[in-house]
Amino acid sequence: MSAVATTVLAPTKDLLRFLTCGSVDDGKSTLIGRLLFDSHNLLDDQLALLVDDSRRHGTRGAEMDYALLLDGLAAEREQGITIDVAYRFFATARRKFIVADTPGHEQYTRNMVTGASTADLAILLVDARKGLLPQTRRHSHIVALLGIREVVLAVNKMDLVDYSSAVFARIADEYREFAARIGIEHSTCIPVSAAHGDNLIEPSSQMPWYQGASLLRHLETVPIPDRASTQPMRFPVQWVNRPNADFRGYAGTLVSGQLRPGDRVRVLPSGRESVVARIVTAAGDLEQAAAGQAITLTLRDELDISRGDVIAAAAQPPMIGNQFEATLIWMNEAPLLRGRSYLMKIGCRTVQATVAPLKYRIDVNTLEHQPTDLLALNDIGVAELSLDQDIAFAPYAESRELGGFILIDRISQQTVGAGLLHFALRRSDNVHWQAIDIGKPAHARQKQQKPCVLWFTGLSGAGKSTIANLVEKQLHAIGRHTYLLDGDNVRHGLNKDLGFTEADRVENIRRVAEVAKLMVDAGLIVLTAFISPFRSERGMARALFAADEFIEVFIDTPLSTAENRDVKGLYQKARRGQLKNFTGVDSPYEAPLRPELLIDTASQSAEQSATRIVEYLRAHGRLWT
Ligand code: ADX
Repeated sequence: MSAVATTVLAPTKDLLRFLTCGSVDDGKSTLIGRLLFDSHNLLDDQLALLVDDSRRHGTRGAEMDYALLLDGLAAEREQGITIDVAYRFFATARRKFIVADTPGHEQYTRNMVTGASTADLAILLVDARKGLLPQTRRHSHIVALLGIREVVLAVNKMDLVDYSSAVFARIADEYREFAARIGIEHSTCIPVSAAHGDNLIEPSSQMPWYQGASLLRHLETVPIPDRASTQPMRFPVQWVNRPNADFRGYAGTLVSGQLRPGDRVRVLPSGRESVVARIVTAAGDLEQAAAGQAITLTLRDELDISRGDVIAAAAQPPMIGNQFEATLIWMNEAPLLRGRSYLMKIGCRTVQATVAPLKYRIDVNTLEHQPTDLLALNDIGVAELSLDQDIAFAPYAESRELGGFILIDRISQQTVGAGLLHFALRRSDNVHWQAIDIGKPAHARQKQQKPCVLWFTGLSGAGKSTIANLVEKQLHAIGRHTYLLDGDNVRHGLNKDLGFTEADRVENIRRVAEVAKLMVDAGLIVLTAFISPFRSERGMARALFAADEFIEVFIDTPLSTAENRDVKGLYQKARRGQLKNFTGVDSPYEAPLRPELLIDTASQSAEQSATRIVEYLRAHGRLWT
């Protein structure tokens, strides 16, 4: 279907991309079906299929079911909901249209964000009998955030409120006021009945009191913003094409501006400059490329350019940064946690981003800013992000391509959030790395050892501290330089401000990982004994070290055993409900999938376990230089 249409069609002035959003029963599919059908765009075989499908699956008896025009997915028919973005292409004498139909179910915000990120206009559907719903406000918010300036509120099912002008006026007034407050510059309210076709194509005789344009007329005449071609040239490199030693081309889509051979360009983030030699396409070289075109560039100089770099107009390069304020739209069942790090895909580049601090979530109804340390499914919030490297960027308001990003869970690889950059934080410009002459190698040499971290993880009472303590004693006895960071102890000092919510545990581990890194830099063999219940933070800790420096030691004690021991009496308290968020009771523990060492405390004593760990270090050459 459709994804093809979006990529093949170069944006032209008379192409309007819009999306529709609404609740499941608002009649959205019927409305789009009507637009497609009544604007005479059906091919004959599609029509035949429709008549046939209406008979078999339709919900409207012998009448044609326009909703079935949207092929959607089989699941939509089976469950009565649309579960993916369906792009449809249609045209009238005046204009071409691509419509992204996105489902209204709350859990499908992701699809809405996908549809909205390329649209110029949004149609929000409401049921005239119900008026504005929290979801209408959330959707409005998302489309406003995603840079859509034109919104149509289609007040549907007017037939069911006797085509009452008063009902329409009440909803329209309330919406206009809300839209203005969230920065939607143009909102147009149209009373319609999708089922009867009122005000969709032609003005409705049922609502003579409505003087405005029909929906289709509005779509045909609304001005289309021309963002891409008036902006400076930006070309994110999708891949480097090197078929042989003589050719080095950079392939991708020109996201804004124009490009000609001879143009001077700057490559970001490196800052190197060169001149465009050729613009290569399958159909031969071009004298000029325009925004939206997929091309391969060659440059006069051999520069070191890789996937994710941005080639830009040398005279107007984008900014560079690694710390940002951004709006986040959360799309995953598992919440976003302050302090957690995610993979961030921006343009063609993937970097690591840590969320800290999370500033607030936005109540979509009242627009109030609420302090929080997590974002739940469908929440919208504002956070600061720290990246592990520089990127070329633009505020989303200026460039969707250079300012829009998605967040990916590092373990599951799922897309869990979307975001929009506001601005870079200046902090990073003022804080530099200070060169220090005595670095890790010098520290390590002096101690005659290879520094590393033994990262113990496991339930409370699993035996982490006990075994780590024995390991440290053995290492100390053979003259190794060590330090043991222990959960309970660190929580008396460095981390005494933290409790046991998920967000606090994330921050606990982030700080401990950073401290462990400093200690490894100091040449020490570091042992950490923390429950560290989440894979994500253990992954974050691992990423701070070289591959052979991080040794994850899973102290694998079954919950029942740890609970029976209950050395500190905490399991009992937790079971009685006197201690909240206790790991294994009412807070999760995510066991390591591939620890370097798995210690089964049921089959060996603490001493045996400790000896095994020291043996591992010896066998891997970690004890001596
Ligand atoms: S972590 O989850 O953030 O890694 P950490 O290892 O620092 O936890 O602290 C765990 C220790 O704190 C436990 O061994 C226990 O003694 C104590 N503790 C107090 N409350 C809790 C709780 N709700 N859940 C787990 N441990 C708790």
